[in-house]
Amino acid sequence: MSTAHYDVNGNIAVIRLDNPPVNGLGLELRRGIVNGIQQAEADNAVKAVVLIGSDRAFSGGADISEFGSPKAFAEPNLNTVVNYVESSRKPVIAAISGACMGGGLELALGCHYRIAKPDAQIALPEVKLGLLPGAGGTQRLPRLIGAEHAVNMIVSGSVVPAKQFKGSPLFDEIIDGELFDAAVAYATKVVSEGLPLKKVRDLKAKHPNPEGFFMFTRNTVGAMAKNYPAPLKCVEAVKAAVTMPFDKGMEVEREAFVNLMQTPESRALRHAFFSERLTSKIADVPSDTPVRDIQSVGVIGGGTMGTGISINFLNAGIPVTLVEMKQEGLDRGVAAIQKVYEGRVKKGRMSEDDAKAKMALLTPSLTYDDLSNVDLVIEAVFEEMGVKQSVFEKLDEVCKQGAILASNTSTLDLDKIASFTKRPEDVIGLHFFSPANIMKLLEVVRGEKTAKDVLATAMKLAKTIKKTAVVSGVCDGFIGNRMINQYQREALLMLEEGASVQQIDKAIEKFGFAMGPLRMADLAGGDIGWAIRKRQYQENPDMVKMVLADRICEMGRYGQKTGAGFYRYEPGNRNALHDPEVDKVVDEVRAELGIKPRKISNQEIVERCVYALVNEGAQILDEGIAQRASDIDMVYLTGYGFPVFRGGPMHYAEEVGLPNVVRAMQAFTEDRHTQPGFWEPAALLAKRAEEGKGFDAK
Ligand code: NAI
Repeated sequence: MSTAHYDVNGNIAVIRLDNPPVNGLGLELRRGIVNGIQQAEADNAVKAVVLIGSDRAFSGGADISEFGSPKAFAEPNLNTVVNYVESSRKPVIAAISGACMGGGLELALGCHYRIAKPDAQIALPEVKLGLLPGAGGTQRLPRLIGAEHAVNMIVSGSVVPAKQFKGSPLFDEIIDGELFDAAVAYATKVVSEGLPLKKVRDLKAKHPNPEGFFMFTRNTVGAMAKNYPAPLKCVEAVKAAVTMPFDKGMEVEREAFVNLMQTPESRALRHAFFSERLTSKIADVPSDTPVRDIQSVGVIGGGTMGTGISINFLNAGIPVTLVEMKQEGLDRGVAAIQKVYEGRVKKGRMSEDDAKAKMALLTPSLTYDDLSNVDLVIEAVFEEMGVKQSVFEKLDEVCKQGAILASNTSTLDLDKIASFTKRPEDVIGLHFFSPANIMKLLEVVRGEKTAKDVLATAMKLAKTIKKTAVVSGVCDGFIGNRMINQYQREALLMLEEGASVQQIDKAIEKFGFAMGPLRMADLAGGDIGWAIRKRQYQENPDMVKMVLADRICEMGRYGQKTGAGFYRYEPGNRNALHDPEVDKVVDEVRAELGIKPRKISNQEIVERCVYALVNEGAQILDEGIAQRASDIDMVYLTGYGFPVFRGGPMHYAEEVGLPNVVRAMQAFTEDRHTQPGFWEPAALLAKRAEEGKGFDAK
């Protein structure tokens, strides 16, 4: 199927890109463009060529379905196409609307003239995948808009509307009216006025003080980009555009591109990009599964989670009825929501009217009867089965048929919660993360009886409220918390064995986590983990006890909320300060347990914490709790501050090499502190390591 249509309109040839949804520059389309130019050159009647896409996109760039396949670089590759267009003997005019990004913009830069709709979206976003524009973008853009603007666009990858370039040589005209007619008219003008073939490669990229500018830029970008090599390579490539002839600059760009393609950081970013797209695919719930209409939402519980959850829906323009037990709690909840909007207004992120309009969508209530008509209810009350039971029994009574009944529980058995109703097929877990109005992750917990359309509705709704939704089966802690418990446990054990609070956090933060495990425990509140541990000790009497962590909690040190945990905190300040009190407790506990502290390396800290995640992740995958390893990675990238440049725990393990992970784990089994069998590699991990395959291999 041809994805580029060739047509002649008077003496103007038109090549229309047609590879929906965004005219990704796949092999067929690239061939089509070259063929079109060849046809135009061969036809004496044709005097100029218009290259045009759809309203939605001139071209969004590379065809992502070709990523990782040889097709992506097969001839004519994008570079060849751009050069072909640029060296056409007949003027080529790019007519741009919608997305004009990455390879799409590079293609436009190869054209001799460019006209665009004011709101066309212009970007070179390759840096977000750890790459740089590899088809001349770093060489041509600075020649048109200057080094400074070009560096900003290429290093940030941000999208700029075309109208912002009005008056710059990037666009010859910004078109308010019909693009196609304007393009043909522009091409006719080029022909009738005998305008020259303007090749961007022939221009000079200028900067009044290149040495100073690039030194400064390298320093600032280097400091900001810390763990990412691509931004600095972008700067180097733009520098080449200013200081070298075009062909030499292209060589610099090419080498940098090839180099970046092979970096673990780019592999991780590309993995995250594709993994995000996969999360919404559910094997037995086809994408055309009908969904239920969600026009209104009820939230029960106006505490930490209920308020944050409500804000998501208000932001999306969906009315929320917030139900609390007592007026006081209700007032507190409404005030908390109001405060968030006031903060946004103060920071200039929202107008006062807009904030008022959002608040007007909120109906505070003290009665469940007000939920009789809502399409979805999310329960966020205390984490106690008895409380959940009474809430779900009431919901079963008052809610209309077809309403979805969701729980935000983080640890309780969703199937049991569903059993409190006569409609377990309508019950689902929607596990938000705190602060719920900010965190991207939403674990969608699929109960044994959850109906497929309920699941499909939840996944669609997640998109509406801009969350990354990952499906999890029912188990203790679901995907994220079940794994984090193992990671925290290792951190706590190493604290007993000889590492310090500061060493553990620093090692993990150096690895790239936003926050070390002990600072994270202080933020989340030690009492939560303690309650979970107490329950687990009961359920599993053989479990190794976290004596030190328990002791810290017994002292009432729950973290930030009590001003002290593994660190101490000054009132009103979240800075974690070293606390000699904690060192004392650590010494006491070690003495009690008869532990002779040993020196623990930073490498051991990282390996034990991260491989604990990996092993539990493999187990979760094997049990079918997660659909795929990449879903687990998305949970960790969007909900737990796992370093994005490492691609998530499962991807990271594959980068290290699964056999190496297994070997490292086997070396840990010597530890006398360890739960027997704890470091036994999960069956799936062992199997994949032996087969030499990745987790998601078929
Ligand atoms: P919270 O204690 O801040 O809020 C609970 C609210 O529910 C209170 O305002 C209480 O008055 C209200 N409430 C209790 N019983 C009620 C009833 N029968 N009807 C109406 N309102 C009632 O608790 P938080 O932290 O918001 O947690 C709520 C739920 O969310 C729990 O299931 C928890 O496990 C879960 N969760 C908590 C997270 C967190 O980081 N705090 C993260 C993810 C889930």
